[in-house]
Amino acid sequence: MPLKRKILIAGNWKMNGLKKDARSLAAGLAKKNSSAKNQSVEILICPPFPLLALTADTLKGSGIKIGAQDCHSQLTGAHTGDVSAALLANMGCTYVILGHSERRINHGETDKQIKMKAETALAAGLKVIICIGETLKQRKAGQTLNINRQQLRYSLPVGASASNTVVAYEPVWAIGTGQVATPEQAQDVHAAVRKTLKNKLGSEEGNAMRILYGGSMKPSNAKELLALPDVDGGLIGGASLSVKDFWTIAQAT
Ligand code: 13P
Repeated sequence: MPLKRKILIAGNWKMNGLKKDARSLAAGLAKKNSSAKNQSVEILICPPFPLLALTADTLKGSGIKIGAQDCHSQLTGAHTGDVSAALLANMGCTYVILGHSERRINHGETDKQIKMKAETALAAGLKVIICIGETLKQRKAGQTLNINRQQLRYSLPVGASASNTVVAYEPVWAIGTGQVATPEQAQDVHAAVRKTLKNKLGSEEGNAMRILYGGSMKPSNAKELLALPDVDGGLIGGASLSVKDFWTIAQAT
């Protein structure tokens, strides 16, 4: 019998929003989730660091979880401008997104650094969402599966299990472009990721670990993507900035 993995719908607000936006987005979603019939979906919001406290307060009691978009690889110390996983946990975060392509590209983050961050985050009691994904150039060169397998192998933390780690496949060419992966393209990579996870973690953990799709997921394409056998949720950027769109995606399962 195929294993049932709980769908995770995660909103990555990236560097968007002011206090008033966070308040109204979180309040709108909290209201919807509190009266929702379908509680079988896990919903997560990842705002910018300074909005974490306000968003957590606004979401209190709604059942919606809160996460961050990055953390440092050390638990504490002299790291000006950085934020520790311990503080994130202390602020009420359950998850942290690590290795997003915008951090890999804009900040030169490597698989090794992402792995270190993830191990520290796990030690602080957070769950991690490890992002992987190929560029258009790599896809055109036929390197898609190899790139994703490689990023996964080297950025997955020691101690990763289905209960503390989620993988997010986000093709770089689909992020913020409106050019979503076709169901075939998404399932192809997700199946390869699943196989790699099984090889690395054993069949049981590899089967149980959730793999999210991210990259121009919208109300109009979410249902089709979320119905794929190895797609266990979404990591949503642009559409997570609208209560209506994000909620529609969360209900599309
Ligand atoms: P978009 O949904 O805006 O394409 O962003 C996806 C993403 O990068 C989520 O982390």
